[in-house]
Amino acid sequence: MPQPDASPELSARVDAAVEAALAAIDAASTTAELQAAKSAHNGQGSELAGLNASLRDIAPEERKAAGQTIGAGRARVAEAIAARQGELAAAEEAAQLEAERVDVTALPRLRAPGGRHPLSMLADEMTDVFVGMGWEVAEGPELEHEWYNFDALNVDPDHPARSESDTFYVAPAERHLVLRTQTSPVQARSMLTRELPIYIVAPGRVYRTDDIDATHLPVFTQMEGLAIDKGLTMAHLRGTLEHLARIMFGEEAKIRLRPNYFPFTEPSAEMDVWHPGMRGGPRWVEWGGCGMVNPNVLRATGVDPEVYSGFAFGMGVERTLQFRYQLDDMRDMIEGDVRFTEQFGMVI
Ligand code: DAH
Repeated sequence: MPQPDASPELSARVDAAVEAALAAIDAASTTAELQAAKSAHNGQGSELAGLNASLRDIAPEERKAAGQTIGAGRARVAEAIAARQGELAAAEEAAQLEAERVDVTALPRLRAPGGRHPLSMLADEMTDVFVGMGWEVAEGPELEHEWYNFDALNVDPDHPARSESDTFYVAPAERHLVLRTQTSPVQARSMLTRELPIYIVAPGRVYRTDDIDATHLPVFTQMEGLAIDKGLTMAHLRGTLEHLARIMFGEEAKIRLRPNYFPFTEPSAEMDVWHPGMRGGPRWVEWGGCGMVNPNVLRATGVDPEVYSGFAFGMGVERTLQFRYQLDDMRDMIEGDVRFTEQFGMVI
């Protein structure tokens, strides 16, 4: 028995509903919009669902054909939704992957490495000259007892260097603590604790109540040297200093000693260095103090001056840096501007 077709009216309504559904599905650009199109055009209350519900009102002989027409329409819509769902899901996943892309081969942002300060490097270089001759490196505290900083070094109780206008005294007064004004107290500490003979250098920071200017810093660095042995003379002192001067300033550098007074040395001398590379021509520049260790200092630290003699010296590391590199202003050394430091190389 031939099947009757669905009525032309029903076919037209199904076609229209399917067209509308397909257009909405096509227009959906996200899975959420597609979900909305699906419920509007194929869900409860949609035209196609309504047509399906009306099947029961259709005459039984026409119901099958009508049902097939509506079913075919709904199937086309469902298929289109599934196809579009696949496309949209793939596109959304691709977009998400793109958004979350990480370039594992990308280089990290380059950060300039820090560098050692030229003063530290120079202090090390000066120290190395002595280590190369078999000397040892000695240390002492920056917060020092007045006895080591002054008394043990034969500094008179009324010596002007002890005054509060030169020295930072640290409260409470009865503890007799100062910020060391020189590295010379390391001499006394070394003689009290080390076996003889003694050959030490002591680089370190010292403090004075000076105002900052181009040639003065209230905190600066000294390099102390002390040799105690049998038979040491000023010739040894001179040879040692000249060796250091040549390494610091070049082969033509030499040392000149001028008589001076320091309580801890006798005789004492002011030490000048002939600087061959000085801007404006070679000349003598004042470099530090030195002398033969005063027998009073040897006695105060338990060394017999009848058997042992010694020499000592001390110079500023900032001054050495200043002469070596023709720096006009010491303040550049403490301002922490990397453009200053960089000129000496970024050794880490
Ligand atoms: N301590 C002295 C100063 O700060 C420098 C000095 C002079 C150190 C003579 C010495 C020395 O070891 O023998 O001015």
